[in-house]
Amino acid sequence: MSDQPDHEEHLSPIETARLWMSVPPVSHAAQVLDFDLRNREHLGPWNPPRPTPLDSIEAWQARLLTDRQRAREGTAFHWRLRPKGDRDGPVLGTLSLTRIERGPLERASLGASVDRGQQGLGLVQEAAEALLDHAANVLQLRFVEAGHAPQNLRSASTLRRLGFVPYGYARDYLHVGGRLQDHVLLQYDLRPLRRS
Ligand SMILES: CC(C)(COP(=O)(O)OP(=O)(O)OC[C@H]1O[C@@H](n2cnc3c(N)ncnc32)[C@H](O)[C@@H]1OP(=O)(O)O)[C@@H](O)C(=O)NCCC(=O)NCCS
Repeated sequence: MSDQPDHEEHLSPIETARLWMSVPPVSHAAQVLDFDLRNREHLGPWNPPRPTPLDSIEAWQARLLTDRQRAREGTAFHWRLRPKGDRDGPVLGTLSLTRIERGPLERASLGASVDRGQQGLGLVQEAAEALLDHAANVLQLRFVEAGHAPQNLRSASTLRRLGFVPYGYARDYLHVGGRLQDHVLLQYDLRPLRRS
């Protein structure tokens, strides 16, 4: 499968001190599948239901193609994190900005995950700081929202450390891990990050 004419181009690349992230080419489906399989148990409790199983390279090729279309439209971005200097290397995690809205809201929703063995190194914080800067200055958004299940303490501390501010608590908010779960809702005001 290919999404010619630029199927080998990395979209929306962002570099940090230790990481390089992009919306990858469709040809990177094998590395993304590998991340998914390695982390099924770790991420299962926080994953939304999947309408189609993502168990094969072909399934991930189709999914990456959709990710690339959405990135080009500017409606959602699914970045895959790699070690800096190794653009074809193993996927270490994912960050996403989805449900991007323009007009009066100018907002997006943040999602994040990191390989089970790479937690506790500050990688998501490092990547998310760069991504918030990108959201403010490249995507020209005004705020980013995030949420976490009350028992997801790692996510809670990452979001608080980044500077997200809680604004609500929603019961039975999101279908993740096979059931509806309450969520703490948080917001990050991007305006102080804007350079112009
Ligand atoms: C939530 C999740 C993304 C956090 O990932 P993470 O990489 O551990 O988060 P951070 O980047 O904020 O790292 C924080 C940890 O790194 C440590 N750290 C080490 N070096 C650091 C550095 N240079 N800078 C910052 N923190 C550093 C911090 O002390 C902290 O340790 P602690 O968790 O023991 O307190 C991860 O646990 C995950 O994938 N969970 C499953 C999916 C999930 O819950 N997603 C969110 C759904 S809402």
